[in-house]
Amino acid sequence: MKKILSLVTAFAMVIILMAGCGGGSTAEETKKETEAVVETKEDVAEKTEASPEAEETEAPAETGDLANADKPLVWYNRQPSNSSTGDLDMEALNFNDKTYYVGFDANQGAELQGEMIVDYINKHADEIDRNGDGVIGYVLAIGDIGHNDSIARTRGARKALQTAVEKDGAIISDPVGSNADGTSDVVKDGELTVDGKTYVVRELASQEMKNTAGATWDAPTAGNTIGTWSASLGDQIDIVVSNNDGMGMAMFNNWSKENGVPTFGYDANSDAVAAIAEGFGGTISQHADVQAYLTLRVLRNLLDGVDVNTGISVEDDAGNVLTDDDYVYVEEERSFYALNLSVTADNYEDFMDSTAVYAPVGNQLDEASHPNKNIWLNIYNSSDNFLSATYQPLLENYDDLLNLNVEYIGGDGQTESNITNRLGNPDQYDAYAINMVKTDNASSYTSLLSQ
Ligand code: BGC
Repeated sequence: MKKILSLVTAFAMVIILMAGCGGGSTAEETKKETEAVVETKEDVAEKTEASPEAEETEAPAETGDLANADKPLVWYNRQPSNSSTGDLDMEALNFNDKTYYVGFDANQGAELQGEMIVDYINKHADEIDRNGDGVIGYVLAIGDIGHNDSIARTRGARKALQTAVEKDGAIISDPVGSNADGTSDVVKDGELTVDGKTYVVRELASQEMKNTAGATWDAPTAGNTIGTWSASLGDQIDIVVSNNDGMGMAMFNNWSKENGVPTFGYDANSDAVAAIAEGFGGTISQHADVQAYLTLRVLRNLLDGVDVNTGISVEDDAGNVLTDDDYVYVEEERSFYALNLSVTADNYEDFMDSTAVYAPVGNQLDEASHPNKNIWLNIYNSSDNFLSATYQPLLENYDDLLNLNVEYIGGDGQTESNITNRLGNPDQYDAYAINMVKTDNASSYTSLLSQ
């Protein structure tokens, strides 16, 4: 039964991934989406597996003698892809036979976020419409209009709140700017019936939170913007929605907490989870504890020259193993995707420490059979709340358990060269984990490794 469920989830995921990756809506994309939908379940089941085929590299891999272009490489958090069409960059994903991507299922998580907000409305019917005008108004903080996670989350919220407008078969994910009067053509007024009463649902305002230097997902910008929005919209705002917790918490701390307005984020950063006790509406865990593990574990296996599934779908000698409730692997995309979970008032106490290792994969590897190796790993923006407050601390926990010596490089979130300049001597490392500023820029890294 679990297997069937996981196949169904995987099927839905592949369809959604194919349909929802792009920010644009070109004719080609629409064609692709239509084709994706007619794909049979069997086709998808065939190419979607919980784990990659056993791939033994010659054991033990002597990476010291390998050319940099032949060393293990994991892309993570930003999947090599065209930022306007969403098409995966298969050349980067197949850079060599030891290349993989680790991320999470953006569309499954986005749907969950939307459902979590609607559940909240249903449970708080008597207090949700603050000014009693029959309109449930929300504002939306958008992270990065060219980032597929951000696009998926905007679409997920609009779909669940019935405000979505489709163009060429895909929900429009553009910001509305201001829509206090409900006349925008990017969104429409939705309708929700709660406790027998029908409300209009309106996206009052939304914008990309980008600062003047160009950094996206920018929490301080979101904190300022809620000031502007609340000054003009006041108690028309019944709900605050954010594409991530960093921006959500900035808005909560600057305005919604004091005004008792439920605010919803994404990432399950520890501060957002703790804020649920103070009225933060909820967040989504993208299972960063599984992603951080996979990021380093895949490299560990490739360095050890063992089956890449070791300690992932196949229990390792220390007892580490994941299940298909934790992640899916899509063979065609060379990608591992962690599955998301909702975090609300009902369960937030289980998520208080976002940096704790995931117990099923928390066992120390033996140093004699898994000797120390050197990894170069970058974080695209050292001020990104999720990556710096949740993901990096997790990586630091796992690097010890996996006997990996990781050099952490923090970027400025704006320029790729700020990071690639610090990959001046790739020979010093046995493997690489890369988080690009822009998903289109994989070749800035692979060209350095190919020199
Ligand atoms: C996270 C965001 C983060 C972004 C950075 C997303 O997956 O949810 O919080 O800012 O990645 O790439």
